[in-house]
Amino acid sequence: MQTNIEVVEPKLYDAVVADEICAIVNEAVSDRGVCSVVLAGGSTPGSVYRLLSRPPRVDDLPWSKMRLILGDERWVPLEDNQSNARMVHDTLLAPLGGKAPELCRVDTSLKAPQVGAQAYEQAIRKVEGIEVKRSDGSDMLVFDLVLLGMGEDGHTASLFPGEPLLSALASVQALECEELRGRVCVAVSHPEGASSGVVAERISLTPAALFSARRVLFLVRGEGKAEMLKLVVEGDAAIDVLPSRLYTRALGRVTWFVDSPAAAMLSSVR
Ligand code: 6PG
Repeated sequence: MQTNIEVVEPKLYDAVVADEICAIVNEAVSDRGVCSVVLAGGSTPGSVYRLLSRPPRVDDLPWSKMRLILGDERWVPLEDNQSNARMVHDTLLAPLGGKAPELCRVDTSLKAPQVGAQAYEQAIRKVEGIEVKRSDGSDMLVFDLVLLGMGEDGHTASLFPGEPLLSALASVQALECEELRGRVCVAVSHPEGASSGVVAERISLTPAALFSARRVLFLVRGEGKAEMLKLVVEGDAAIDVLPSRLYTRALGRVTWFVDSPAAAMLSSVR
């Protein structure tokens, strides 16, 4: 099975991705009455979220039937400008006003990331309308749509190269290994740590939570991502080396939306 890649001109990118999200959400609500959406952090998705929050798309979406969950979070206060929850609030929830669904997010006021991850997992499992798939003795959530970005180092969500939890997973072909079985989110660290100005402590949904979803969209823009995108979609690095390659374990359900500068080094695109 081939990797699904949609290459879009930069000026059309946000609209094309927003329209795909609208289509997926409306199909899910039509089929199941509700749609759970895991939102990506970082900077790329903000302009897409803004498009969803204003006419014409704002009127195309069944907001009261949508369940929004953050795919990962930096361990910072909500008002911090590095908070993904703050980015979602500023680009989507605040413009939606009274239409805004509740956002299931990490409580970073708790005493430690490990405590935050446990509390977040409990909160996600309480969100109504998310299907639970029981397999190999674990109850994994099946989200309707997961949005992800890809870092220039090949990370996705807050699953970074060299993450010990991924090393265990790299030796199997499934989305779960003993260390991660049944886990929806984990406390992890950025490999560079605070020394390089990034937020070291993170909370991330697990590979199984992210890639068990019915649909997964990667949002990748800019020539700065071109080299890594080629390595991820055309190379064969292990998932603990390039965590975005976890997509290969959910091939048919993943679509890469990339703009033409990010796709510039790909050898085989439509
Ligand atoms: C985060 C994101 C992260 C992001 C990539 C791409 O918390 O930063 O979850 O995985 O999606 O780093 O980020 P940009 O969209 O800013 O390039």
